Amino acid sequence: IDPELSQIMEAHELLQKLYHHLLLHTKEGQPALEYLRGRGFTDESLEKFGIGYALPAWDFAAKMLHKRGYSLPVMEKGGLIIRNERDGKYFDRFRDRIMFPIIDIKGRIIAFAGRAVRKGEQPKYLNSPETPLFNKSTLLFNLHQARGPIRKKQQAVIFEGYADVISADKAGVQNGIATMGTSITPEHVQIIKRLTDNVVICYDSDQAGITAAFRAGRMLSENGCEVRVAQMPEGLDPDDYINQNGGEKFRRDVIGASLTFMAFKMNYFRLNKNLQNEGEKLAYIEEVIKEISKLENAVEKDLYLRQLSEEFSLSLDALKEQERQFRIRWS
Ligand code: UTP
Ligand code: MN
Ligand code: MN
Ligand code: MN
Ligand code: MN
Repeated sequence: IDPELSQIMEAHELLQKLYHHLLLHTKEGQPALEYLRGRGFTDESLEKFGIGYALPAWDFAAKMLHKRGYSLPVMEKGGLIIRNERDGKYFDRFRDRIMFPIIDIKGRIIAFAGRAVRKGEQPKYLNSPETPLFNKSTLLFNLHQARGPIRKKQQAVIFEGYADVISADKAGVQNGIATMGTSITPEHVQIIKRLTDNVVICYDSDQAGITAAFRAGRMLSENGCEVRVAQMPEGLDPDDYINQNGGEKFRRDVIGASLTFMAFKMNYFRLNKNLQNEGEKLAYIEEVIKEISKLENAVEKDLYLRQLSEEFSLSLDALKEQERQFRIRWS
């Protein structure tokens, strides 16, 4: 392996240990630790996810890495420090932040996500930039720990955020992963598919999360995954839900009660539509029949067509005919 890359990895390992120590055992780390505890992070989670704290100093990591003989230009390539154009000095990328190590599938720390400690501070999460080791479109947060549980349960649960994965883990859902602040990519889908075809999307219950769930569900099901979508009360994310309702309820009423992707789409298409209005109602029914026509399973088709027929008092034969027309159009 390239000596520069191993230097970068070593530096991440070193800093992670230091950040972790600073969080747990120093006065400087106290406010961050209190913040995390206040949010329900347990000592077990802090250990399992190697969480830490980066000091506010401008060049704490830069100095430390230099003293230990690491090349600063290489550390900059690794995303840990930044060179000031004016005076050529290096300063730390992560300052006064709660540090979440980003670990690759081989268990090596290759990046960090740093969360602001104070409310309203922007950006909320500062992630390492793309580096020779860190590629957001292929990395799934927590995959190195979730891989076994995903295989064993034959199910992956995909979250939006780091805190969601960590809370879910605490709640007994150890097959959780998250994309790194980006939408799911075709590469992510292929990585998941090597482990399982069953995916539960558990995104935030807000407009952005619901739209993202629709897109992710599309991509996953077009690639042959069996997709379900978890539902939560409006405005909550999985971490909020677990802190308010506990792990057992999360497993039963959110993960366990997740909707099939078709049922999710039926709800999704009616958002922002007034079904009392004839035109909007017809548009909705057409959108749903189009989706039904793409299903492969005849029993499923029948089930959803019957649901539509009952809900809108329409003849099942007419719906079946419409479905057939769409199917002919696709083929
Ligand atoms: P959210 O805004 O839902 O944050 O972004 P969160 O995960 O609930 O964060 P907490 O609970 O307030 O700590 C979801 C994910 O999007 C990425 C992160 O991966 C985050 O977990 N993100 C968000 C960023 O990368 N940068 C940001 O500034 C915000
Ligand atoms: Mn420890
Ligand atoms: Mn969100
Ligand atoms: Mn969230
Ligand atoms: Mn959150």
